[in-house]
Amino acid sequence: MNNFTFHIPTQVHFGVGQIKSLAGALKAHGATRVLLAFGGGSIKKYGAYDDVVRELNNAKLPFVELSGIQPNPRVESVRQGIALIRDNALDFILAVGGGSVIDCCKAIAAGAPYTSGDVMDLLTGKATAQSVVPLGTVLTLAATGSELNNGAVITAGEDHKKLVLFHPGIFPRFSILDPAYTATLPPNQTAAGAADILCHLMEQYFNPAPGTQVQDRMNEGLMRVVLDNAERALAEPDNLEVRANLLWASSMALAGLQLMLGKPMLGFPIHFLGHELSSLNDMTHGVSLALLTPAWMHLVMREAPQNIAPLAAFARNVMDVTEADDLAAAEQGIVRLEDWYKRINMPANLRATGIAEDKLSHLAEKVMEGREPFGPLLPINADRAETIYREAF
Ligand code: NZQ
Ligand code: ZN
Repeated sequence: MNNFTFHIPTQVHFGVGQIKSLAGALKAHGATRVLLAFGGGSIKKYGAYDDVVRELNNAKLPFVELSGIQPNPRVESVRQGIALIRDNALDFILAVGGGSVIDCCKAIAAGAPYTSGDVMDLLTGKATAQSVVPLGTVLTLAATGSELNNGAVITAGEDHKKLVLFHPGIFPRFSILDPAYTATLPPNQTAAGAADILCHLMEQYFNPAPGTQVQDRMNEGLMRVVLDNAERALAEPDNLEVRANLLWASSMALAGLQLMLGKPMLGFPIHFLGHELSSLNDMTHGVSLALLTPAWMHLVMREAPQNIAPLAAFARNVMDVTEADDLAAAEQGIVRLEDWYKRINMPANLRATGIAEDKLSHLAEKVMEGREPFGPLLPINADRAETIYREAF
């Protein structure tokens, strides 16, 4: 295991009714004038907005709203938020929604104090934020783990490239995680969220390193929780114990990248490949991952059979495959994974999502932009990327 430093500064208020902690949390973190940011309106429809505004009023905190943040959030919303902070002298950002709202707010947090250029400088790595506006979150969707990490994914430019910002200052100061807020999710978002959580766990699990037993055994346990509770959440959407399990799994899966600790950072190949699908047709993040994961696993088995121990371990320890031979076990694990995607109603293949076949080589070129071959077990280059897209098609 490599040396590591682990630090997550985010306070978590978990459970039904924890919105009552909001006023106190805002005060404790020094908020005096708040940017209240949210998406396309689900929070107004289902009550979270009223709860949050009541708390802001209880705390006598003035606030300005930024609404309409889209899924796969755009840099234009980030710029809007930055302008609101500067024009209204706001000193705290409250993100209420899913990963898209939280990520947009993280980029606003880094971008508002950066006055020597446009926020794109920070998103493209041309400059690093020297200070940030603090932010807190009220999460409504179990998926990304953004509520407990310091990453943000923003869509920018004519080609809708997904740019990833990491900065120690954009860990939320607090996150309010109430499973009841996630009970209003439509089935497709519940399922896509679960597919995203599972993929975060798999990408870390398939990145093996000696001596990382704690990370890997925790990971297996979390994967089993996700597989089990996703189907239950679809069957019993109002079951708050099930929702709570998914919600805490989402946070734990990427909490400060804890399951990657001690491992080499080689990139999340399925995520890199999936982001290009979202860039091309605004595909829901979790759906893109479900479509590509089996194809990536198959390619590893074909081209790097000497490296498939983690795939076989996944099959045995998570999917309950009993086969002794590693290759056969790994294959059975993929079959069971594909069955699970089917049971949670993920699309059958890329074709079914409207992606045109003649775009596949273009996707493979795009994913390599600014990147060396990436990922553990089998470095993905343009040819291999295209092979994965073609198999998923
Ligand atoms: O916009 P509203 O009206 O709120 O509707 C949203 C949106 O349409 C809806 N929704 C959210 N909570 C709801 C609800 N509908 C009913 N009831 C609720 N309780 O769900 C839709 C999707 O929301 P979104 O925030 O886009 O989903 P998610 O949380 O999956 O976030 C996806 C984004 O996060 C990025 C992805 O790339 C994508 O842009 N990721 C961020 C990561 C991070 N920061 O660590 C890691 C991830 O791998 C991922 O890349
Ligand atoms: Zn993800």
